Amino acid sequence: MVFQIIKEAFSSKHKNVTTKSSEIDFVTETDQAVEKFLIDGLKEKYPNHRFIGEEGVASGLKCQLTDEPTWIIDPIDGTMNFVHSFPNVCISIALLVNKVVEIGIIYNPVLDLQYTARKGEGAFLNGNPISVSPTTALSDSLVIMELGTTRDEEKRQLVRDNFNILQTKCHGLRALGSCALNMAHVASGGADLYFEFGIHAWDIAAGDLIVREAGGVVYDTEGGPLDILGRRVICASSIEIIKEVIPLLKQMKNERD
Ligand code: IPD
Repeated sequence: MVFQIIKEAFSSKHKNVTTKSSEIDFVTETDQAVEKFLIDGLKEKYPNHRFIGEEGVASGLKCQLTDEPTWIIDPIDGTMNFVHSFPNVCISIALLVNKVVEIGIIYNPVLDLQYTARKGEGAFLNGNPISVSPTTALSDSLVIMELGTTRDEEKRQLVRDNFNILQTKCHGLRALGSCALNMAHVASGGADLYFEFGIHAWDIAAGDLIVREAGGVVYDTEGGPLDILGRRVICASSIEIIKEVIPLLKQMKNERD
């Protein structure tokens, strides 16, 4: 079973790790095995559906989102955590039809936390309904931001600037190493705001639906509608926090997926 593959490899001290876009952007044989397992299984059931998988794209497949039913898959979100056996890792799976997310699933097999949502039917953690926190002010917020998987100087400066800007304006700042789980934490009320520049469609597709179905909001970092291929995301428990934080943030654009 795929969850067992991740759990066993997670505990192993010897993971087979290689790098992708930078010296700190990792892929393991488990990422590849899990993605193959999921796509093979879904293809058998839905032969006409399309797929966008993180490791498929890394190995040269095109990231093409059409109106056809498309599964967007991150086999292990938080690969750096996985490599270090830090238990904040998950599988992220979304089904999009007409480019709209219909189903979102984020599952942390190490801690057995399963976040799910279907469009219009609410969001759940291990089968129990979840909702975002009641927080509406940045000054009361627990904020998650990330350092990313590149050592590019422009990105590092952006992270430093946004950290410095927010440090004294919110309750606290966290960086937990998994975009999908960060969104799940906003959805379940553990965090109030999360934003990141440089992420990919497979990091955010499931989280987008889960946050919105939990009563939260998800946007592009400049406040426009989320572009699932746009490489940046901001989500929060309330629109008030988004309106307060966006004018403060330093922005960055990446080439679309
Ligand atoms: C990464 C994680 C990390 C985020 C990176 C992502 P991966 O995904 O979500 O938190 O900062 O931008 O690429 O590579 O572990 O699937």
